[in-house]
Amino acid sequence: MWETELNQCFKQRKLSKQKSFMLSAVGDAGATLAEVEKSPTLLARAQFRQRPYPHYIKYMGSKSKIMDFVLSGINEVYEGGPLCDLFGGSASLAGAVGDQVAVHSNDIQCYSAVLARAYLTSWRAESSPTSASIIAQAKVIVETSRQSLDCLHDYAAPVSLEKFNGVEREQQALLDRNFSHPWHLFLKYYSGTWWSAEQALWIDAIREVADRYKDDPCYDVILSSLMFAIAYASQGTGHYAQYRDANTESSMRDISIYRKRSVAQLFAKKYDSVLSDLQTEPAIYPHKVTTLDFRACLAECSGGTVYADPPYAFVHYSRFYHALETLVLYDYPDIQEKKGVVVKGRYREDRHQSPFCIRSLVKGAFEELFRGVRESGSNLVLSYSNTGMISLDDLGDLATREFSGRSVEIVFTDYKHMTLGRQFDRHREVEECLILVK
Ligand SMILES: C[S@@+](CC[C@H](N)C(=O)[O-])C[C@H]1O[C@@H](n2cnc3c(N)ncnc32)[C@H](O)[C@@H]1O
Repeated sequence: MWETELNQCFKQRKLSKQKSFMLSAVGDAGATLAEVEKSPTLLARAQFRQRPYPHYIKYMGSKSKIMDFVLSGINEVYEGGPLCDLFGGSASLAGAVGDQVAVHSNDIQCYSAVLARAYLTSWRAESSPTSASIIAQAKVIVETSRQSLDCLHDYAAPVSLEKFNGVEREQQALLDRNFSHPWHLFLKYYSGTWWSAEQALWIDAIREVADRYKDDPCYDVILSSLMFAIAYASQGTGHYAQYRDANTESSMRDISIYRKRSVAQLFAKKYDSVLSDLQTEPAIYPHKVTTLDFRACLAECSGGTVYADPPYAFVHYSRFYHALETLVLYDYPDIQEKKGVVVKGRYREDRHQSPFCIRSLVKGAFEELFRGVRESGSNLVLSYSNTGMISLDDLGDLATREFSGRSVEIVFTDYKHMTLGRQFDRHREVEECLILVK
């Protein structure tokens, strides 16, 4: 079954017009048992296949929908050793193959490390809490905290647009209030934005309870399930670049749908389903999870295969997912200001600016990436798209120059890419490709 899928994938291979691309044969998928027994290299070659894994967040550029394609590329070049996911993001690769190989999952964003650990190193102990216990503890906190608030609103009760926006403004103004309870970050920073004050109370309370289980082997599953809950309760479009304003009756009604969602119920549903399938012993592979810049991560790599899926577009992940970063770090960051006024998106002042998203820096970033992979003695699978910040022809030139004497191959498939709006342009044709270096 798997080999049939693999062959279908590679039937879609298109040869680059660029003369500089050197194309290699499909690989050893057809090796006989006798050949495999004679060759230690072939013996070391695994054929990874995707296991079922839970999805926690909506993530721009996630490879979960084309994971079979990505794995077909990795299976082409993999010759043993660890698998390093250099730009882990939603940690989909760790989710897909963490039970088959030692994975080093890296990303500059800390929420990615939490998701990676939920897939790679989390397990269920006798002492791990149930969702009912977490929710019961959170409820006590919420009941106390809500007593000091007079801007909570019942979103099931119809109100005028004017009244609705009045409540939104009152909740947004909590940013200027001082609170004595130490766990009030979402209430203060995000009430009346992507979440209501009531939802923010629950987010803070579950986050507080989560930290009572910091030493439990399912701590990262608790945090990841909370990330799921905030993603599906948010009134935004799947990311946290801008929240929507209630400009019309219809947008007010739509926002109210999300305001009515229960963070506690969303959390419990995800946590219960993950916990029931979670292994009851620690992982057998020596997995590693880091939050390094890709250059520092490559300096730690030696051999194995690097899977690199850098950003393709000019938008910075740190702007789109700042709320996840803040949920995980819970560090009351300084918020970006323009001309002395807090920006609407309430972004972290210290957020990361990726060279892959800046036209004048992207070429140099790829040169450093290729050099780092070469010096680490690893094989490479690079995901990129025909709508990226650098053309595929230029990328191919760079790769063949940096990896001279090695096999460099490009493989395409068609893939519907998720764009950023909720509108009709959500899906546009984008061709994904893999550059394989062996
Ligand atoms: C296209 S996404 C990866 C998606 C991932 N493969 C998945 O399936 O979810 C690119 C990732 O690169 C990360 N990133 C951007 N610049 C980085 C840098 N300098 N070092 C490490 N990670 C970086 C972003 O935080 C983002 O998560």
